[in-house]
Amino acid sequence: MILTLTLNPCIDRTIYLDRLDVGSYNRVKSTREDLAGKGLNVSIVLNNLDVDTLCKGFSFKSNGHLLEELLNTHHVRHDFLSLEGSIRTNIKLFDQSCQVMTEINEAGPFVPMSAVEQLMEDMENALEHTDILVMSGSIPPGVPSDIYQRLIQTAGKKRVKTVLDTAGEPLFLGLPEKPYLIKPNTLEFEQAFKKEIESGMDTLEIARQVVDSGIPYLCLSMGEEGAMLIDKEHVYRARPLPLEPKGLTGAGDSMVAGMCYAIQKGLGSEDMLRYAMAAAGGSIRQEGTILAGKQDVEELFPLVEIETIQ
Ligand SMILES: Nc1ncnc2c1ncn2[C@@H]1O[C@H](COP(=O)(O)OP(=O)(O)OP(=O)(O)O)[C@@H](O)[C@H]1O
Ligand SMILES: [Mg+2]
Repeated sequence: MILTLTLNPCIDRTIYLDRLDVGSYNRVKSTREDLAGKGLNVSIVLNNLDVDTLCKGFSFKSNGHLLEELLNTHHVRHDFLSLEGSIRTNIKLFDQSCQVMTEINEAGPFVPMSAVEQLMEDMENALEHTDILVMSGSIPPGVPSDIYQRLIQTAGKKRVKTVLDTAGEPLFLGLPEKPYLIKPNTLEFEQAFKKEIESGMDTLEIARQVVDSGIPYLCLSMGEEGAMLIDKEHVYRARPLPLEPKGLTGAGDSMVAGMCYAIQKGLGSEDMLRYAMAAAGGSIRQEGTILAGKQDVEELFPLVEIETIQ
């Protein structure tokens, strides 16, 4: 079973305007609301690939039903710890005249320490039945930034493989615990390895140092430039699939799902990257928040071109 953890879900409220006039009256053209959570995306794609998966994390009483409804629609199992308050809303103002998005993000409710400890206890139990634990996204106010670090330790004791897909402090603190796989995008990589970059090391040297330190797999996703997967013996580079991107939401999360699928099947690193690219491609070629299905992945998998760098 693949367990995904989403500590900081949110509702993306996109407001479309003909043009945005700051400081004056603006008329809304249309709106849409999407529930967003990186672990949820990973589980939805895994479930589409017929992998047994469970979503855990924090939800909030006043609008948590939206989260449950989304997962129920996709037939994904979930077991969230429900707290007082509401899931935070991120407002995205889209000015259609210049195609520019302005984002206003809420921090979300403060999570009390008692809830953190309760979640840790729940996670310990769930890890008994888990093959891979995926920790995705940011951490809400109140939750200590070493939570992923603690979870990697706990999972390690139970021989559960861990995937860490986050940024900033939670990523930095997680690295010394040697997760099985990390998947930073270019920006997250540059932030995490700022010191190494400043000392003159290039991307490949840094990536090799990471895997030599005991993190078996590093996947660096580079948006429209594709991705790289580095393990102890190989450096693989994948070109982006030739498709028209229609919705970039969940591209990175789909990659994580693709790699978990390959790991679960006992496949090697080249196939991990192939499934990552096929799953990302399957999600981005569809409008809005629609994520890759099984057919997408099967169709795109043979089209992924991989080059061996070393
Ligand atoms: N504009 C694009 N054109 C083609 N492929 C893309 C594009 N953007 C992303 N991809 C594909 O999706 C993969 C993941 O994208 P990206 O590096 O942006 O991940 P991310 O920033 O982690 O995304 P997320 O927002 O889901 O966390 C890329 O490696 C690439 O294969
Ligand atoms: Mg990402």
